[in-house]
Amino acid sequence: MISSEKIPNNVDLAGDRRLQRALERWQPRFMDWWKEMGPEGFQDAHKVYLRTAISADTDGWAHFEYVRMPEYRWGIFLSEPEKDRKIGFGDMLGKNAWPEVPGEFRNPLRRLIVTQGDTEPASVEQQRLLGSSCPSLYDLRNLFQVNVEEGRHLWAMVYLLHSYFGRDGRDEGDALLERRSGNADKPRILSTFNEPVINWLDFFMFTMFTDRDGKFQLLALAESAFDALSRTTRFMLTEEAHHMFVGETGIARIVERTCQIMNERKGVAEDVREMGGIDLPTIQKHLNLWFSLSLDLFGGEVSSNAASYFANGLKGRVYERKYNEHRAIDDVYVVDRFDNGKLGNEEVPYRNALNEVHRDSYIVDCEKGVVRWNRVLEKYGLSDRLYLPHRRFNRSTGLYSGIEFDPQGNMLSDAEWKKKRDEWLPSAEDKRYINSLQSEPIFEPGKMANWIAPPRKGINGKPIDFEYVRVEE
Ligand SMILES: [Fe+2]
Ligand SMILES: [Fe+2]
Repeated sequence: MISSEKIPNNVDLAGDRRLQRALERWQPRFMDWWKEMGPEGFQDAHKVYLRTAISADTDGWAHFEYVRMPEYRWGIFLSEPEKDRKIGFGDMLGKNAWPEVPGEFRNPLRRLIVTQGDTEPASVEQQRLLGSSCPSLYDLRNLFQVNVEEGRHLWAMVYLLHSYFGRDGRDEGDALLERRSGNADKPRILSTFNEPVINWLDFFMFTMFTDRDGKFQLLALAESAFDALSRTTRFMLTEEAHHMFVGETGIARIVERTCQIMNERKGVAEDVREMGGIDLPTIQKHLNLWFSLSLDLFGGEVSSNAASYFANGLKGRVYERKYNEHRAIDDVYVVDRFDNGKLGNEEVPYRNALNEVHRDSYIVDCEKGVVRWNRVLEKYGLSDRLYLPHRRFNRSTGLYSGIEFDPQGNMLSDAEWKKKRDEWLPSAEDKRYINSLQSEPIFEPGKMANWIAPPRKGINGKPIDFEYVRVEE
């Protein structure tokens, strides 16, 4: 069913005139933001082969067609309600889920929703210049698919703010359109979402690692006792899966092309750049950067906020059902700690260590992607391997911030760090090199930039040389 309403939805917006009017007032502000901060240079003449969410049914929600991005139908879709849903964790385990926001949890819930919501437009802002250096039409289309869906995720959070948080919620909805990624005066809330995404290696690492943080946050919120939040985030997760696919396969294709170049040159790494490819050390440095920036997003190792979110049913654990015990009140967790500058560890109440628990399962998930990238290296008979740096490496929140570690997790002096930094993180020279590779976009259907292999298959059964983005007057 394609809804003819102004705002496509499965929440019976027409039945709530007040809410509908509020969202219809927000809509033109969103459009102004999109035109100002959305993909630059692709707003008017370009039609993009995009999928649009038109319902939340498992086998009918993805509808593909050519659309101009500003005409994309951003809608509000929640997963189907679960009948008699109960709270699955924390102090209120087994009680009924909440159809409304309880007064005592209004502030923390609003904060959780705003923080999640803020990342969505932020990533669109971070990626807005990438179209003009795309390695293929296939990749250009995937970038824009990610962008419009992040826009829809913003809609999802604004829907919750408008429906459940009254005047405060509407103000927050406006503020979400006012902050700007990387702007010193009005930055986005989380520091990782103020970092520039300047090239496609950044973009693929971002969708691999930073969107995966999004997956973990959404999974934790999907457990929430606040039922509308749970249903909204469950539907967002179906879109998020594609974003991580874009990142993981994007890097796999770069690695593959690099392998081909290395084999042509019999494995002499220095030659990869001479032949216009991206050498493995440069890939590893970008991996190090975006993995460590994404680890920061989980918050401090020991956190009383995390404990109270869990105790009160606001935010659960990822795949809560997989745990045997859902109160987690008596357990302890071992975390690192510094004693007079020396690294040791300590036991803390499990609930207070939940950020670290989430970080652990995130790392396991990331590791699987790295294993798949290394299979490509293996397939080409190369002995080089990519790896995840230690969680202590390059952190700017929590226990390890302000102290330097190498990618194996060994503590370094400032002088040692300064000497080695450019071996582990992208240097100014690396950035110049990648930018020189990506100075011209590739718009010819089926053609790939020299530094990336073609994908295995196209989108929605279309061939790889399909015209995924076309110019139309
Ligand atoms: Fe998102
Ligand atoms: Fe995403």
